[in-house]
Amino acid sequence: MGRKFLVGGNWKCNGTIEEVKKIVTTLNEAEVPPEDVVEVIISPPFVFLTLVKSLLRLDFYVAAQNCWVRNGGAFTGEISAEMLVNLGIPWVILGHSERRSLLNETNEFVGDKVAYALSRGVKVIACVGETLEQRESDSTMEVIAVQTKAIAERISNWDNVVLAYEPVWAIGTGKVATPIQAQEIHCELRKWLKDNVSPEVAESTRIIYGGSVNGSNCKDLAAQPDVDGFLVGGASLKPEFLDIIKSAT
Ligand code: G3P
Repeated sequence: MGRKFLVGGNWKCNGTIEEVKKIVTTLNEAEVPPEDVVEVIISPPFVFLTLVKSLLRLDFYVAAQNCWVRNGGAFTGEISAEMLVNLGIPWVILGHSERRSLLNETNEFVGDKVAYALSRGVKVIACVGETLEQRESDSTMEVIAVQTKAIAERISNWDNVVLAYEPVWAIGTGKVATPIQAQEIHCELRKWLKDNVSPEVAESTRIIYGGSVNGSNCKDLAAQPDVDGFLVGGASLKPEFLDIIKSAT
C-alpha cells in the first residue's frame, strides 16, 4: 500500500505566545517514529505561523489553516498562498467544515482554493464531511462525492493533496466515528477516486480522519486499512497528541 501515515494538528483559533512555546517544546522533546513512517503537520493560527516554524523540530512541518483563492491585493484580512510560500510554510488546510458553515465556503470556492494553492506549490489537506442530518438521511457518500468532485474537476495532479474525512457530527463533540464507520467512508471515498480520477490516484492519495480523535481511540482507527492518518483538533493542543502520532506504529 505504501501510503505514509500523516498526523495533522489543527489548533484552530487557540493559543498565546506562551502556550505556543510550551506546546512546541513538548513536541520538540518527544520521541516519535521517524518522518518516513509518520508525517507530522502542525497548524497554528496565522499569527503564530512564523513563531512555530522558527521553533519547531525540523522533522515536523507547518500548515496554515486557510489561504485566499488568488494572489494578494484588495482582500482585507486574507492570507495568500504566495505569502505561505514566502514564509516557507509548505502546507495549508482548506475546506474545513467550520469555514464551510461559518463563512459559507461553497464546494466550488473550496475547489478553486485547492487548485490555486497547489498551483503556487503549497500542499493541501482538503476537508470533506457530512452533517448529522445528512448522515441520518443516508446521504453521506452523496455529499462527500459532490465535495470531492468540486476539487477533482479543478486539479490534474493529486501528488500534493491529502483528503481529510471529517464528519461534522464528530468534530468537537467527543462523538468519534467508530473504526467501522470511518473505514466504510474512507473505502467508499477511495473507490470514488478510483472510478472518477484514476486507480493510481486512489491508491496513492492519503485519506485521513478527523473528528474527536484522542489518545484512547486513535489505535483502533489507525488499524483500519483505508485510514491513513488523522487531522486532530482539541487533542492536538494536549500531550496526548504524541500518543496519536505514535498510533501509526
Ligand atoms: O480539523 C480537525 C478538527 O476538525 C477535529 O476537531 O476537536 O474533534 O479533534 P476535534
